[in-house]
Amino acid sequence: MKIAVIGCGHVGLVTGACLAELGHPVVGTDDDAQKIVALRQGRVPVFEPHLDALVMENVRRGRLQFTGDIAAAIQESGVIFICVGTPPLENGEADLSAIDKVARTIATHCQSQKLVVEKSTVPVRTGEELERVLQLYGGRSGIAHEVASNPEFLSEGRAIEDFFHPDRIVIGTSSEKARGTLENLYQPILEQKFACPVHSHCPPIRKPLLLTTNIPTAELIKHASNSFLALKISYINALADLCEIFGADVSKVAEGMGADRRIGREFLRPGIGFGGFCLPKDIQAFVRLAERGGYHFALLREVEKINERRIDHFMEKLRKALWVIADKQIAVLGLAFKPGTDDIRFSPALAVVARLLEQKAKVKVFDPKAMERARPLFPQLTYCRDAYEAAHEGDALLLATEWEEFRSLDWSKIRNSMARPLLLDGRNFFEPKAMAALGFEYHSIGRPDLR
Ligand code: UGA
Repeated sequence: MKIAVIGCGHVGLVTGACLAELGHPVVGTDDDAQKIVALRQGRVPVFEPHLDALVMENVRRGRLQFTGDIAAAIQESGVIFICVGTPPLENGEADLSAIDKVARTIATHCQSQKLVVEKSTVPVRTGEELERVLQLYGGRSGIAHEVASNPEFLSEGRAIEDFFHPDRIVIGTSSEKARGTLENLYQPILEQKFACPVHSHCPPIRKPLLLTTNIPTAELIKHASNSFLALKISYINALADLCEIFGADVSKVAEGMGADRRIGREFLRPGIGFGGFCLPKDIQAFVRLAERGGYHFALLREVEKINERRIDHFMEKLRKALWVIADKQIAVLGLAFKPGTDDIRFSPALAVVARLLEQKAKVKVFDPKAMERARPLFPQLTYCRDAYEAAHEGDALLLATEWEEFRSLDWSKIRNSMARPLLLDGRNFFEPKAMAALGFEYHSIGRPDLR
C-alpha cells in the first residue's frame, strides 16, 4: 500500500526513507517548494547519519518520490503519515495549525478511505480533534477515515538506527483495521528481519515491544517519555551542583546509580543542559497541557528551571576562572545541540555563545557540522576551519558539544597555542587527570577542578 508522508523535516524524511527501505512505496510532500526541489535533486536538507544514502538509494529504486502536490500525494496513498512541525507558541503550547490544515486537506480532497497516522509530537487529544476535523470537513464525501497515533522516538544523530532497532512501537487507535495495517507496515521491524542499512552485523538486539492502545494513551506515552528523559538530565545536573558543594564526583555518583537496573545508566550525563527542538518544547507543552486539565505539574516546572540555570552556572564558572570576561578571547567547540547533528535549535552551546557576546568576549567557534546554520544568527562570531584555529591565542576554551572527533585532537598542541590553557568542559567529555597532566587548568561539571 502506498504511503504519503506529509512534512519532509527530520521526522518525515527519516520515516519516509526508512519505510521505503523496508520496501513500501512512499511519496513525501512538503509545502516548502524549495525543499522538494532539493530532495528531487538528491540534496537532503538536514544532516543525519545514513539519511543521504537512504534517500538517494530509494529514490533511485523508485520507491521514494517527492512532490509539492499534497492533494495528489494523499489521493494516491492508502496510509498518510502526518509529520508536520508543531512549534511552540509564545505561551508554550504547541502550535497545531499545520496539523489542522493537513486534516482539512485530507477531508476535502480524498475520494476513498485513508488511514491517517499522527507521527508529529502532539498534545493528548490531538487525535480526537483530528478525527473530528476529518468528519466535519469530509461530511460531503461521506467517507469515515481511520485515525491512529504512532509516536516517534527517534533521537537526532541516531535516528535511522532508532527506526530500525526501536525499543518499542506504539500504535494508538480504536480501529482493528488500522492496527492491522500499521502492524503489517512495521512487521520487518517487529521481527527484526531486514537488510540493515546501519550495521553490517547488527549487535544482539531484542525484538521491540509492540504496544497497542487507544489514541490518548499513545499520545501520552510520547509526552511522558520525553519529559522523563528531561527529568533524568535535570536530576543529574542538580546532583552535579551538590557534588560541587560537597566535593564529590558526579561521574561516580551517576555510575553508582546507573548500575542499578531500575535506574539505568542512560541520560545521566551532566552538563550545560538539554536543548534541541524536542525536550525543551515538549516539556513546556506538557506542563501547559496539564495545567489546562487543572493539574499543576510542579515537578516538570522544576525540571525546566534547573535546565535554564545550567547556562548561568557554567558562565559563573568561567567568570570565576577568568575574573573578567570582557575583551577575553574565548574558543567554543561545538554549536549543535548535541553531537551527530547540524541542528542548532535551542542549543545550549548557542546560549553560552550569546552570553559570551553579551559580556563582550571575542568569540571564536568551531563545529564539524553546524557552522553554516549558526552563521546567519551570529554573524559577529569568528568561524574557524578547525579546533586549532579556534583555540589559538585563546584565554579559555569551552567545550559545549561533545563531538567524538574532538577526542582525537592534538591537545598538547592546543594547550601550547593558547594564551592561557584554561579548559571548561561543559559536557564532562574528558578525563580530568589526563587534561591536567597535559597542563590544562581543567574545570568540568560536578567534578573536582584540576590545575
Ligand atoms: C529526543 C528523545 O531522546 C527522542 O526519544 C525523541 O524521539 C525526540 O526527542 C523527539 O521527540 O523527536 P533528541 O532531541 O534528538 O531526542 O535528543 P536527545 O538525545 O534526547 O538529547 C536532548 C538534549 O539532552 C541534548 O541537548 C543532549 O546534549 C542533552 N543530554 C542528553 C544531556 O544533557 N545529558 C544526557 O545524559 C543526555
